Amino acid sequence: MSHTDSQPRNILVTSALPYANGSLHLGHILEYIQTDIWARFQRARGNQCLYMCADDAHGTAIMLKAEQLGLTPEQHIANMQAEHERDFADFLIGVDNYHSTHSAENRELSAMIYKRLRENGHIASRTITQAFDPEKELFLADRYIKGTCPKCKAEDQYGDNCEVCGATYSPTELINPVSAISGATPIEKESEHFFFTLPAFTDFLKQWTRSGTLQSEVANKLSEWLDDGLQEWDISRDAPYFGFEIPDAPGKYFYVWLDAPIGYMASLKNYFDKKCDANSQDWQEYWKKDSTAEVYHFIGKDIVNFHALFWPAMLDSAEFRTPTKVCVHGFLTVNGKKMSKSRGTFINARNYLDNLNPEYLRYYFAAKLTAGVDDLDLNLEDFIAKVNSDLVGKVVNIASRTAKFVSKSGGALASELADEALWSQFVEAAPRITEFFEAREYSRATREIMALADAANAWIAEKAPWSLAKEEGKEDEVLAICSQGVNMFRALITWLAPVLPETAKKAEEFLGVSLDWKSATVPLAGHTINKFKPLMQRVEKAQVEAMQEAAKESLAQLQAETKAASGPLADDPLAEQIEFDDFAKVDLRIALIANAEHVEGAGKLLRLTLDLGGETRNVFAGIKSAYSPEDLIGKHTVMVANLAPRKMRFGVSEGMVLAAGPGGKDLWILEPHEGAQPGMRVM
Ligand code: 2FM
Ligand code: ZN
Repeated sequence: MSHTDSQPRNILVTSALPYANGSLHLGHILEYIQTDIWARFQRARGNQCLYMCADDAHGTAIMLKAEQLGLTPEQHIANMQAEHERDFADFLIGVDNYHSTHSAENRELSAMIYKRLRENGHIASRTITQAFDPEKELFLADRYIKGTCPKCKAEDQYGDNCEVCGATYSPTELINPVSAISGATPIEKESEHFFFTLPAFTDFLKQWTRSGTLQSEVANKLSEWLDDGLQEWDISRDAPYFGFEIPDAPGKYFYVWLDAPIGYMASLKNYFDKKCDANSQDWQEYWKKDSTAEVYHFIGKDIVNFHALFWPAMLDSAEFRTPTKVCVHGFLTVNGKKMSKSRGTFINARNYLDNLNPEYLRYYFAAKLTAGVDDLDLNLEDFIAKVNSDLVGKVVNIASRTAKFVSKSGGALASELADEALWSQFVEAAPRITEFFEAREYSRATREIMALADAANAWIAEKAPWSLAKEEGKEDEVLAICSQGVNMFRALITWLAPVLPETAKKAEEFLGVSLDWKSATVPLAGHTINKFKPLMQRVEKAQVEAMQEAAKESLAQLQAETKAASGPLADDPLAEQIEFDDFAKVDLRIALIANAEHVEGAGKLLRLTLDLGGETRNVFAGIKSAYSPEDLIGKHTVMVANLAPRKMRFGVSEGMVLAAGPGGKDLWILEPHEGAQPGMRVM
């Protein structure tokens, strides 16, 4: 399809709905940035583009996590949603609505769609046998069963595959299987389930997946599945389950993946209900069968089957339109490695935001994103180099080198261009840049933009207005050169605005005009600009290191929380037990907090000087969220005195103080009173 016609398009875009069960990480952010750039680009082009997202709030994992935290599922998902929305806002992800799949709209739409599937003969039911935890009274998905690998005999392997030897098997083949939730031995139990008759859609899907809705590599992968034959899809789960009860089936719930994509519709319905009136039917304009609107889903390659098989089939049966395109991206790696909790290479959205400007990452991802499904690597050295060289060194530099001479001559730009040939390079590039954004080839778009920035900088360097300005009678020439510099900057920042919305806003203030895609290459002539203020700072290596340090701390905290929640108190037989002798090795001592201070660049750490009654220790403690240094000085605490010293980025930590609480502000250092003297052993 070509989009050169001037009729504005009505577009709905979505990103995959994140689970309301954990913090967002940079892998999530990659997708939201990809989607947001596209949505902002469409709006800049004058199209109507709505970006909808929501939390994916249902399922067993969320139910169990809430229980662990001592919260109701509703409280837990509300907390997670608030955190997610903050991360979205701080990464400048301009969603038009952020909703939840656990919402009235989604309940209504899910029931409606299910009923249509049933009326159309696309719901089957039959009794199946499944593993059941007799203690928890809960059916167990494969990942909640652990046992010894039938092949290599490695212990403690999950559900259906062995992490040690790579064997795949059915959970019933595990030796000594236990429920990972209670530790009980699972029994087999029967229950009636509902199925969506996916095979009935084989021909429809063969056609749909080849109709330009998917990247060819994705369509090829799906062909393999389609040729192997589709299976009916189990869409029900038994109580207890956090989700929506299935109409006319008490005790049966929709499987989370049934109502998750309906959440895209529900978010749109909620948007119009809030904007227009409750019960506005506007959402249907996007989803009805003959809709002229376009619908784009941005997703990762791990959830293609849900979006390109189940979802279009459901929509077709329920008499809704299917997506215009499902845009699939690859995974994010960091420094060439898969982000992994166990390897400690996991970076949360907040770890980044606490230390770095969101636009750096938006640009870096844009510079590397293609329309393909290849993985994208965030190489942190390259990240620093690229952001500093491209954004600060090339783009912003054009304005900072030229604006001051325009201001000196009164602030009005010259009425003629100094170099028509150079300008025509910009004019010719404009449609290519537009097409690259449209096709989600952001890396090619940014390459075009940076090539023009290079040409502009080379030309300015050759003209050297700063030297001419020292000569008599060259005022007009200097103004002409610098006016063209400002105009080139304006074109570049207009094209980069979907990537750098904050910098674009500052550029608008400086230029005294709104950036406008259509007139990016129509030079501003005779227009008066404002004084130039620095638009962007360089990235410093220390910021990146602080982010990595923060990521490690978050991970350690998460691991500690998980341990605490599933420790002996939760009666979890899988938690590692220690012998009394292990415990006896821990040398707990009373310590006086002789000094406490902030640590430059460390998000959560305080540097404590602990007095053990003669000997002093330097300890970094992650308790900044709960204490100001001045509140700690003079207090007694309990420390692990024989912990091996640990080298941290800020220095060596020689011990550990004990604290308790759920974390954040609610974290209390253990504070012995009455007669506790520094150096005393704690028994
Ligand atoms: O994979 C995931 O993280 C899912 N929560 C994505 C859901 S996308 C949509 F279908 F809701
Ligand atoms: Zn094995």
